[in-house]
Amino acid sequence: MPTDSSRSPLAAALLLPLVAAACAHAPSPMLPASEPAAHLATLGWWLIGVATLVFLVVLFMLLVPLRERRHTIDRADVAPPHNERLILIAGALVPAIILIGVYIGTLQTLNATATPAVRPKYMIEVTGHQWWWEIHYVSADSSGEFTTANEIHIPVGEPVALRVASGDVAHSFWVPQLQGKIDAIPGQTNSFWIRADKVGTYRGECAEYCGTQHAHMAMAVVAEPMDKFQEWMRTQRAPAPEPTDSLSTRGLAVFKSAPCVLCHTIRGTDAGGRMGPDLTHIATRLTLGAGAVDNTPGTMAGWIANAQAFKPGSDMPQIQLDGKSMSALLAYLETLR
Ligand code: CUA
Repeated sequence: MPTDSSRSPLAAALLLPLVAAACAHAPSPMLPASEPAAHLATLGWWLIGVATLVFLVVLFMLLVPLRERRHTIDRADVAPPHNERLILIAGALVPAIILIGVYIGTLQTLNATATPAVRPKYMIEVTGHQWWWEIHYVSADSSGEFTTANEIHIPVGEPVALRVASGDVAHSFWVPQLQGKIDAIPGQTNSFWIRADKVGTYRGECAEYCGTQHAHMAMAVVAEPMDKFQEWMRTQRAPAPEPTDSLSTRGLAVFKSAPCVLCHTIRGTDAGGRMGPDLTHIATRLTLGAGAVDNTPGTMAGWIANAQAFKPGSDMPQIQLDGKSMSALLAYLETLR
């Protein structure tokens, strides 16, 4: 009678496909949403196929002699099998052919994903920080440029050029459904590009361990039709709207008198800190703390009062405010659309 503990590995193995199905919405490179990502997924499936085949053949070659030896173990006159040709073919020639095939497939994939077919019209500078992403849209004239954080919008079907750098330690920019990875290395700028062929929001991750909150260094890539993308650009480019009511006017004053102003910029006000994310249009963003929590008035209040509870080790300090000041600040931040 098997005990519960002896059954559990089998149960776990049987549950694996269910777990995999539950993760189907996760940002899997095997669910590509762009042509370069499709090339990478094809290479991935080929590698899994080849590795599985090699594993099964090796397992078979291991089991067959073991079985034969069991039948002949009592006979002292049976010498161990010695077949130099087999060793040469299975041990050197076949692995060499497989590795050369994998190498050629990898080079072809790298070549197919290295540069876009048409010249990108848009250029974004992405800078990794512990632990968030600074996103700067480059424009031919400086009035068209703007900075945001942890959220990239791109027009669907259009390649977008990226220049990826780091403000501190090594990070790696990865949006699994759209492209391969590119490292963000201190003192170096790496050129890259992304494209999305389907409208949607794609989760990106930091793919290089960069400290305690490496896991909370996500970003969202929002791919939308060109008209919506351009409307988003217009909104983001504009300075923050002036507060129109007394509560949010007081909220701006709270912002300026609290430590917020030392680290954050709100364009259109005299808040010009560069340590933390630009907050000019914070109310339009999907998450706070680079994917740590969804962006709602409730989480915003929690984030301001005690960001360390959501993201221990981040640079965001606890901001001590009385209830009235907090309500005013939240009302003001909510106007930053
Ligand atoms: Cu940044 Cu890991």
